[in-house]
Amino acid sequence: MNKLTAVVIGAGSRGGGYAKLMKDTALFQVVAVAEPIASRREQIASMHGIPADRCFSDWTPLLDCGKIADVAVIATMDRDHMGPALRAIELGYDLLLEKPIAPEPADCLALYKAAEAKGVRVVICTVLRYTNVFIKLKEIIDSGKIGEIMSVNHEECVGNIHQSHSFVRGNWGNSKRSSTMLLQKSCHDIDILQWLIGKKCKSVQSYGMRSFFTEANAPEDAPARCTDGCPHADTCAYNALKWYYEAKDNLWFRGACTGEVEPTDEQVLEALRTTNYGRCVFRVDNDVVDHQTVNMLFEDDCLVTFTMNAFNAGGRFIHIMGTKGEVRAALDGETPIDITYFQFVPGQGMGQERIDMKADNSITSGHGGGDEGLIRTLYAYLRGEYQGKSVPTIEETYYNHLLVFAAEQARLTGQVVDVEQFRKAVEER
Ligand SMILES: NC(=O)c1ccc[n+]([C@@H]2O[C@H](COP(=O)([O-])OP(=O)(O)OC[C@H]3O[C@@H](n4cnc5c(N)ncnc54)[C@H](O)[C@@H]3O)[C@@H](O)[C@H]2O)c1
Repeated sequence: MNKLTAVVIGAGSRGGGYAKLMKDTALFQVVAVAEPIASRREQIASMHGIPADRCFSDWTPLLDCGKIADVAVIATMDRDHMGPALRAIELGYDLLLEKPIAPEPADCLALYKAAEAKGVRVVICTVLRYTNVFIKLKEIIDSGKIGEIMSVNHEECVGNIHQSHSFVRGNWGNSKRSSTMLLQKSCHDIDILQWLIGKKCKSVQSYGMRSFFTEANAPEDAPARCTDGCPHADTCAYNALKWYYEAKDNLWFRGACTGEVEPTDEQVLEALRTTNYGRCVFRVDNDVVDHQTVNMLFEDDCLVTFTMNAFNAGGRFIHIMGTKGEVRAALDGETPIDITYFQFVPGQGMGQERIDMKADNSITSGHGGGDEGLIRTLYAYLRGEYQGKSVPTIEETYYNHLLVFAAEQARLTGQVVDVEQFRKAVEER
């Protein structure tokens, strides 16, 4: 297999994960890395045998080398996508760019226009599109077996501990440092709904608030940090010492709080004493919502309800109802569960079918297999050999992000927002 070459900008959880999948699949050779944290940078350098003069602590000198690979992977934080992405586009790189494109609609538009003008391909990491379960669902819908879609109910269950780790204490808790919950977390879901339905959303309405992870819910006698001897340590579901210090094999949490690839107990304790990860979960500087609903009216009277919620164990659950039948699918946590569908077959009674997704699921990486699916698809796509339906153009992803921004406007104003008018306002600004 002829490998493609890649540069990785931002070698944290996502960038590091992609570099590993590139190695494991033997489809890509990473030839340069930019990452300020030494242990993260060195891990990728040793995995791919990158020479020292191609390892950088910032993206600027890496891109100053010119175009030295087929694709640039950009996995810096939400507010740090635009700088390296625009520069890489200017150099003629195709991009694998982490979602969201950017926290502001005008920047998303600018990036889409820059990519279009330069004629490069920009693939945004909307990983659900590359899971077997959602690919199968798309196949069923497009086969016409359930007829015209009338209604969709879709739930994104974030999971209470994932919420506390990422969206209260972690990188995404405060929207001014990252982006809104709907954009940073649920842009996957708004994207997948538009992809599955294959029609345009006309108008949108939303409720959403942060009701639980607030100061008002802190027990009066709880100290500012879990490391300060909290009297509720044994009963609190969010005791940071338990989740970060005692859970020695929770490399995700321990790596995130320390920034290290192989953190020691001392480094974890220090992080809990000094960073947001050790703070009482009710006394952080988070501002993103912990539950939200979005109601959408699509073309041809298709009604869609989406719910994002922190108060569960995690997963995604979708129920699609059409004129000829219905279909249900889910990721239970990260595990695909069987798709069931039920057809109203005239003259033959009712037809019911179950597709065993666990048996079908050959891919085992994160996001229900979506991460590995993305890397394998990217390879075929960049080589011009891709036959599937998953990869969106940057125009399509830009449009799908606009629906998220429109829904946020609806939430903040309490109004129903017309999506086409919203798009025009963004593009005429
Ligand atoms: N597709 C998905 O499902 C998914 C899941 C989680 C996160 N994300 C997105 O991926 C992005 C990265 O998230 P993450 O969890 O990997 O965060 P992270 O904090 O683990 O990684 C970001 C990395 O960028 C590095 N960085 C900072 N400044 C840099 C610079 N000047 N040059 C190069 N690197 C620099 C940081 O040191 C860090 O290692 C975010 O935009 C996030 O929203 C996507």
